[in-house]
Amino acid sequence: MATGKILTIELPDEAATQALAVSLAKLVNNGEQLALIGDLGTGKTVFARAFVRALCGSDTEVPSPTFTLLQTYDAEDGRELFHFDLYRLENSREALELNIDDAFADGISLIEWPERLGSLLPRNHLELTLSYGSSESHRQAMITAGDNWYKRLQGISL
Ligand SMILES: Nc1ncnc2c1ncn2[C@@H]1O[C@H](COP(=O)(O)OP(=O)(O)OP(=O)(O)O)[C@@H](O)[C@H]1O
Ligand SMILES: [Mg+2]
Repeated sequence: MATGKILTIELPDEAATQALAVSLAKLVNNGEQLALIGDLGTGKTVFARAFVRALCGSDTEVPSPTFTLLQTYDAEDGRELFHFDLYRLENSREALELNIDDAFADGISLIEWPERLGSLLPRNHLELTLSYGSSESHRQAMITAGDNWYKRLQGISL
């Protein structure tokens, strides 16, 4: 669980989730992690796909790493992007085999099912929790962000 201030954002449709991803992609620094939490189908991969495309180009193929656990991307500005889906992670040894150390140190990491990492998840991550809303296409996002993120988030309209 991340510590810090909490923001709640209504996402009335898929485009709103994608717009939130684009906003956060503009703010992210190297060596930062976004932990994407939420039940099956709440939109973690939709968010991740829009985030990757914001940094790597709009025609980038972004498959869900359901079985590969990790997909890597080169951003247009040369930075490295790591998209994890750890639902099927068996243990922390397997996580280390994915080179999470390198990803977390220098890259930008999007992590679906970050709960699987336990204490391997750096403390300073941004936590984005998606939940179902009042209609088929409505979602709610709750962002928990430490000071490192919170100041930047205040500069944008979410
Ligand atoms: N407001 C919304 N935001 C995001 N996705 C939405 C929204 N409304 C409807 N959807 C739909 O919900 C589904 C979200 O699927 P997605 O694969 O992103 O979920 P997930 O959280 O990654 O699930 P999993 O845990 O299985 O990986 C998509 O089919 C998408 O079209
Ligand atoms: Mg997913």
